Amino acid sequence: MKIKTFAPGKIILFGEHVVVYKKPAIAVAISRGVNVELDSRCDNNICVNIDLINYSSQLELVDKKLNYQCDEDNKQITDYVYEAINMFEFENGFNLNIDINMYLGVGLGSSATITVATIKALALYTDTNLTKEDIAEYAHNIEIKIQGAASPIDTAMSTYGGLIYIDNESKLNRIDCNMQLPLLVSNCEISANTGLLVESVRKKYEKYPEIIENIFSTAEELVNEAKDTFIENDSNKLANLININQGLLDALGVNTLELSDMIYKVRGYGATGSKLTGSGGGGCIYAYCPDNIDEFYNKISEDYLTFKCEQSDSGVYGEIITQDK
Ligand code: MEV
Repeated sequence: MKIKTFAPGKIILFGEHVVVYKKPAIAVAISRGVNVELDSRCDNNICVNIDLINYSSQLELVDKKLNYQCDEDNKQITDYVYEAINMFEFENGFNLNIDINMYLGVGLGSSATITVATIKALALYTDTNLTKEDIAEYAHNIEIKIQGAASPIDTAMSTYGGLIYIDNESKLNRIDCNMQLPLLVSNCEISANTGLLVESVRKKYEKYPEIIENIFSTAEELVNEAKDTFIENDSNKLANLININQGLLDALGVNTLELSDMIYKVRGYGATGSKLTGSGGGGCIYAYCPDNIDEFYNKISEDYLTFKCEQSDSGVYGEIITQDK
């Protein structure tokens, strides 16, 4: 039997950091993510290959289970795969090829994406009927088990896809619009500690409560305007809002020289809107490019790791390519 699945990664378009204070945010699932290919084996071995990190390993099923224990002191990206495998019982082993088509550990939800794509492949292999709600919940539980804490946003984005407005009660609401979102994502390859950055914003808030509160409410207004802008399909306004949000994040102290370099370079090439995405302190920026995306891609990718992507509406999907005879 051969099975193929795909789960999309995500980008926070607006509202990172303020979302921690129950302000709204907007995220989009992207056409880059994780492809999983599963091939059944006649023996009891489970072979996992992840080319991007040069990982290859073979483990044996015992009484249909893997019972993998992750090293509590040395958590690895592969733990997400093995925790997903631990959820199921298998009659036979299999080869699992995980093709990571996005950047790891830079705010694009890579661990959630790997988990969701793997669960989908294993559910198809074991003929387990999982709804999208089940997949999002199981993947979120795996993230909590490995990370200690995790917001359900990343796993939900990889599972359901689409353009999502996260409201003041942290509920996820789909924004239905016809707007195309051609994006460039550039990575400065400096990893940042999200916890420390969230803490630095909290300290600033404690020190200058009135000033920071005003930034938070401006961000809230901006995110709500952005939601309407998608529906109105107004690309000029969207670009302006992206740039204003970047200014607010800079004011909160999470911008860096490298992020600014990417942002201003791509704006200099002609991209109308660009900002950091995620926690800041390193990681990625995105540029909204309704026109000339190839030209901007060719220029910025000379200096920074960059990919082109667009909105992914479907969320996780998968199919059985060939059945066992
Ligand atoms: C990190 O990707 C996004 C933050 O808003 C933190 C969070 O929402 O948990 C900075």
